[in-house]
Amino acid sequence: MPRLPDEYLRRLQDSASIVDLFSAYTEVKKRGRTYVCRCPFHSEKTPSCTIYPENQSFYCFGCGAGGSIFTFIQKTENVSFMDAVRILAQRTGIELPQQSPEEQKTANLRRRCLEINRETANFYYLNLLKGPNRAGLQYFAGRKLLPETIKHYGLGFAPDDWHQLRDHLRSKGYRDEEMVAAGVCRQSEKGGVYDYFRNRVMFPIIDLRGSVIAFGGRVLDDSKPKYLNTNDTPVFQKGSNLFSLNFAKNAASKKILLAEGYMDVIVLNQAGFPNAVATLGTAITEEQARIIAHYADEVIISYDSDGAGQTATQRALGHFSAVGVPVRILHMEGAKDPDEYIKKYGAEQFRLLIENAGDAINFRLDRCKEGLDLSQEIGKNELLRRTLRVLAEISNPLEREIYIVRTAQNLEIRPEVLRLQVDKAVESGKKFAKRMKFRAIEAQSLQRDELNPQSNEFPKEAKAEQEIIAYLLRYPEEYEMLWSIVQPDDFATDLHRRVYQAVCQAMQEQQTRFDLTLIEDQFSVEEIGRITGIIAKYRDIELNRDALETCVEVLKQKHKAAGGDFTEEDLLQAVANRKKNG
Ligand code: UTP
Ligand code: MN
Repeated sequence: MPRLPDEYLRRLQDSASIVDLFSAYTEVKKRGRTYVCRCPFHSEKTPSCTIYPENQSFYCFGCGAGGSIFTFIQKTENVSFMDAVRILAQRTGIELPQQSPEEQKTANLRRRCLEINRETANFYYLNLLKGPNRAGLQYFAGRKLLPETIKHYGLGFAPDDWHQLRDHLRSKGYRDEEMVAAGVCRQSEKGGVYDYFRNRVMFPIIDLRGSVIAFGGRVLDDSKPKYLNTNDTPVFQKGSNLFSLNFAKNAASKKILLAEGYMDVIVLNQAGFPNAVATLGTAITEEQARIIAHYADEVIISYDSDGAGQTATQRALGHFSAVGVPVRILHMEGAKDPDEYIKKYGAEQFRLLIENAGDAINFRLDRCKEGLDLSQEIGKNELLRRTLRVLAEISNPLEREIYIVRTAQNLEIRPEVLRLQVDKAVESGKKFAKRMKFRAIEAQSLQRDELNPQSNEFPKEAKAEQEIIAYLLRYPEEYEMLWSIVQPDDFATDLHRRVYQAVCQAMQEQQTRFDLTLIEDQFSVEEIGRITGIIAKYRDIELNRDALETCVEVLKQKHKAAGGDFTEEDLLQAVANRKKNG
């Protein structure tokens, strides 16, 4: 990949504050010269992520994520380094310098896809209102959508025709292959292209910047498939976007209503609940849960009341618990989904449902009964077993007590009896957790280093290399001195060798201040995390010339042992090392 000029990256990096970036995701606390927060990249209760404003970097001691402002954007937005640069450039208005031909090509294609999507949304919208066929408009009217709702969402209609959109887009100067890339047309076997969505009402999917990125289309009758959605394209991934989040994020309420369908969300909006979102024809992913978590204090799951909806709810609970958002679950009776419910009982009644939505524990306790015959002893025992497991997982003792009393009542047993059993389950749970933690640590120490595999074979050298790199990163202006005593060839492990080489090279080209951004495009986000980890690890440790030379000596020893003129002693030592580590 061609490199962006260093001055540009630096200017861009200086224009944003890493502390601000984090603050948008998690609570940040000042601690001396640094800041700490709960890591946005793994789920944790106590903060183990440190932010270093001095060089605009961060490192999480819990999960090993770390890097620069760009790494942060890469990880939160799930994009490449170049995309992270682009996003920041767009946010700060600092325009990108000239790009390579290849990059221009991808950037161009993305731009064309977005333009095509916008043009297509317009086409569908006008077709809904003015087309010869009013079927789409009638359909929406039948579902009680108001004209302002249709306009608000830019809903449309794809004509019952194989080429009308294609011909329209051609007339606007778009090429067939661009239409296919955007997902609005498909390639036929004979080589021509045809409209993907036909005779369907259309729901444009709009991202947080207001760009149309995809479509969902529904048939007008009961034929299958009921909904057709855009497949992934250069501007769209279904697992990373949510329908109507562009509206929900601006809603006054910090609660988000999560529904299953497009129509549910639209009807909820029309009924005065602009804080509703839906996934795009797939089960919710942890990434989507994390995105929602950025905008919500609480999520209210309003999935369909059928079995599939309840199973999906259970699955979603796991994701929200992983990203640390409290969840309540709406309990709908007498209607299949929010759309139906509101039509039948009205918005006020739905508001009451929200108020009365139960928490996740009640939902799980209710589900314990599923599939059991409670008239039989065996069913009752199983119910008790499942219930105990849920109760034992409630970490707050006070809260646990409340549920114990309530559940005892429901199961018609004495609370003392239940309490005793739950306490036992809690204890054994704790023991189990301890054992798992011990195993995890043990496994970690035995774990092979996948990022830098040679360090398994050469742990001593790898440690020395880390210290050399730590020295270089702390005193980059001394790179020439370092280079004179140790060269990349002396390194035993690939990742460290690459880091050493990249930093020295950047310094040589730069002759000025060093920062991580200068080499970031040459490493994966995981590797950047590792490099930041080295800096973090040695942060409070003195690094001096003596220690440095000892490290260099370790590498030279290995080098000698590996080939060339070694002494018998070197050989013996090398063999001993191999044995010890192998
Ligand atoms: P539903 O069938 O519950 O949708 O599917 P809905 O919104 O209630 O549909 P109608 O219009 O009121 O009948 C929920 C969601 O699952 C996806 C769509 O995103 C839909 O909104 N889905 C459903 C598909 O992607 N394909 C399908 O064939 C069906
Ligand atoms: Mn429905």
